[in-house]
Amino acid sequence: MKTIEELQVLIDEEIHAQYRILEPRELYEPMWYTLSNGGKRLRPVFVLMGCQLFKDDVRKAALPALGIEMFHNFTLLHDDIMDKAFMRRNLPTVHVKWDVNRAILSGDALAIQSNIFIASCDKEILPDVLRVFNSTALQVCEGQQYDLNFERIPEVSVADYLNMIRLKTAVLIAGSLQIGALIGGADAEWAKKVYEMGDMIGMAFQLQDDFLDTFGNPVTFGKNIGGDILANKKTFLLIKAREMANPEQRSLLDHYYSSEDFNADIKIESVKKVFHDLEIDKITIDKVHFYSQKALEILEEIPVEPARKKELEKFTRNLMDRIR
Ligand code: IPE
Ligand code: IPE
Ligand code: MG
Ligand code: MG
Ligand code: MG
Repeated sequence: MKTIEELQVLIDEEIHAQYRILEPRELYEPMWYTLSNGGKRLRPVFVLMGCQLFKDDVRKAALPALGIEMFHNFTLLHDDIMDKAFMRRNLPTVHVKWDVNRAILSGDALAIQSNIFIASCDKEILPDVLRVFNSTALQVCEGQQYDLNFERIPEVSVADYLNMIRLKTAVLIAGSLQIGALIGGADAEWAKKVYEMGDMIGMAFQLQDDFLDTFGNPVTFGKNIGGDILANKKTFLLIKAREMANPEQRSLLDHYYSSEDFNADIKIESVKKVFHDLEIDKITIDKVHFYSQKALEILEEIPVEPARKKELEKFTRNLMDRIR
């Protein structure tokens, strides 16, 4: 059984082995800039961990795992254009460092390359793996569209929000674990259970990302704090705050969320103060713990030796420690 750290090394080795700047360089440079600049490598580690639940040797999962990481990086390149984000992993985003067209095209290339790597798995499981991957990929696009739609709608319910983050974020983490399980030889029923665990991790993860976008440490978060507030994102924090706000707080929020035309720092500070006064930070942390607890409960139900689950349990707990 490999530890989290050993699995991360395996991913880095795979990236290193595949690294190639081909012609035209303008296409491939941004791809590898993105892939080489770290990130937590959650999804590929989840692929390997899903595999490791059922099988010792995870080597066959390494290239599909890199494929999943490439797909994730593709979504980030396009997401940063849509969200007007200028920093990621403490570095300029691709559309800022180069330009929007290169971010679009190298994102497309990442998505296509991801398919090639994912399709490298054994023939017997290929149809199932591609079914999971392609339906996941389409759902991510659906979630991203809802996220954009919601920027322009004032009344978004918690249920709408939860559906949106399930699509844009949770399904990819769930699909990563499920694809890993399929490569590890899990039968369909248990691969589905592994998916359900990933779904809960993904929900917790996006809630935590929303929390950190407002309350995180800029150095460790690596993205601009307050970006969601500036982009009028209907995060759990905002939806909950609108629900709980008194009339003055509510009109302040609605005033700031009705336009992008404000001094950025003043907007962020004013909204943050309302969140803080309403203890939205604590409520969000509780919600993160609710979902991560659910993930751990599902893991307990999976009928493999406890030793096989140890690293996955630890990884899930570590992930949630980012906000404790
Ligand atoms: C960012 O994902 C996008 C979200 C779903 C919140 P990560 O936080 O996993 O990004 P990296 O790969 O570690 O940078
Ligand atoms: C991103 O959600 C989800 C996808 C990229 C599919 P966010 O927009 O919150 O991700 P970050 O915060 O920019 O990483
Ligand atoms: Mg986004
Ligand atoms: Mg974003
Ligand atoms: Mg975010």
